[in-house]
Amino acid sequence: MKIIMLGAPGAGKGTQAKQIAAKYEIPHISTGDIFRANIKNGTELGKKAKAYMDQGALVPDELTCDLVMDRIAQDDCAKGFVLDGFPRTIPQAEALTNALNKIGQAMEYAIDVDVPDENIVNRMSGRRACLNCGATYHIVFNPTKEEGVCDACGNQTVLREDDKPETVQKRLSVYHEQTQPLINYYKEQNILRTVDGTKPMDDVFSDIVAILGE
Ligand code: AP5
Ligand code: MG
Ligand code: ZN
Repeated sequence: MKIIMLGAPGAGKGTQAKQIAAKYEIPHISTGDIFRANIKNGTELGKKAKAYMDQGALVPDELTCDLVMDRIAQDDCAKGFVLDGFPRTIPQAEALTNALNKIGQAMEYAIDVDVPDENIVNRMSGRRACLNCGATYHIVFNPTKEEGVCDACGNQTVLREDDKPETVQKRLSVYHEQTQPLINYYKEQNILRTVDGTKPMDDVFSDIVAILGE
């Protein structure tokens, strides 16, 4: 099962992708999480990516595409995978289509988690992330058991650097310019499915399971 999660920043791609990965036993591949792990570990890639991410801009396609192509070529992706945050430009989508074409494969689902801009800023200001294990929470919609402490690993949870309201606005405009065109791209490939991302998380997940099958 090869799935792409589409949607604005904060639409809930990561929240849903984690549940999809658990239910269908496929890897969850989040380019944002990969970049954040590299930043935390102080790698060359992390240093390059941080400058773009803190501004709410996209990391250049050259730095992103190879990383994903290497990842999906690994053995654990043989049964499929769920991509979260990639592709987010037309050149990235084309690189993915071409790489899979070469091995006689194709993506099967592009799930657009649809949430209007008005809802996004509130969600982001309430999001708390664990930079150790990648878990995501929300102070109202999905709180940790103990305030500020990750349920999964016990590390501190933080407001992401790029979740400040000004940066969220910038990310939204980058989304509309560069990523939203992918909705049409995947519509033309006949794999686009849209879910209403304003519903409660569990309802969004049920809608996705209805698409993917039990
Ligand atoms: P990335 O980490 O991918 O960020 P994003 O796309 O902006 O998306 P988010 O992770 O912010 O949101 P999400 O949709 O995963 O929402 P979540 O589930 O957390 O990328 C970060 C940066 O890295 C980019 O800006 C760019 O610089 C760079 N980058 C990454 N990939 C790249 C690429 N391919 N090319 C170039 N650059 C790249 O949910 C949000 C909040 O809402 C949470 O608090 C959650 O608990 C809550 N929530 C979720 N669902 C619901 C619901 N149904 N109801 C109520 N609350 C909900
Ligand atoms: Mg995410
Ligand atoms: Zn954690």
